[in-house]
Amino acid sequence: MTSSPPTPPVRLAVLVSGSGTNLQALLDASTADPDFGGEVVVVGSDRPGAGGLDRARAAGIATVVQPLASHPDRPTWEAALRADLTAHRPDVVVLAGFMRLLSGAFLAGWPDRVVNTHPSLLPAFRGAHAVREALAYGVTVTGCTVHLVDEEVDHGPIIAQEAVPVHPHDDEVSLHERIKAVEHRLLPAGVRALCHDELELVGRHVRRRT
Ligand code: GRF
Repeated sequence: MTSSPPTPPVRLAVLVSGSGTNLQALLDASTADPDFGGEVVVVGSDRPGAGGLDRARAAGIATVVQPLASHPDRPTWEAALRADLTAHRPDVVVLAGFMRLLSGAFLAGWPDRVVNTHPSLLPAFRGAHAVREALAYGVTVTGCTVHLVDEEVDHGPIIAQEAVPVHPHDDEVSLHERIKAVEHRLLPAGVRALCHDELELVGRHVRRRT
């Protein structure tokens, strides 16, 4: 990629529910690449025990936590999460293993600027159990997808996809680890391209500006 990085860097919020290895990949990429063009300014979670929060704290990044159970309903929860993030003025929101659905009201805060990584070749195996379902189906190739988020689950315009082979003796853990190794490359690359304003949306097609 040849475009010059934005100045100042694009402000990134990252939402996590789990171990946060994709968050770590983003942090590592933004540290290793002086032209990455984005910096993580806040990490949010719905789970106080999410490992991703520890990774954020270790990197000196602000964290916000809003468990769904702490609120009377989803709209109230989502509004609280949105307010927490907004306080850090993010330009882009990255869902890096965030296991909650976000409504149009949330997405409207960052139009075409919410990115997700999903462990399948969409539109196959949408939802929370993509790796398990790919194994159960018997596919010999699966993969991962980095995409913009819209109001439907695992549905928005595709930024990047890459195939990952399923091995005969794979279980959910081994296959997911192989997929994650690819996500750790694809997600930072997609976010970098977004930060550099290299992507153009034409309908539901993401085109590279060249
Ligand atoms: C990734 O495979 C992501 O695609 C899925 O959840 C996993 C998160 O892993 N939605 P981690 O927390 O980044 O390690």
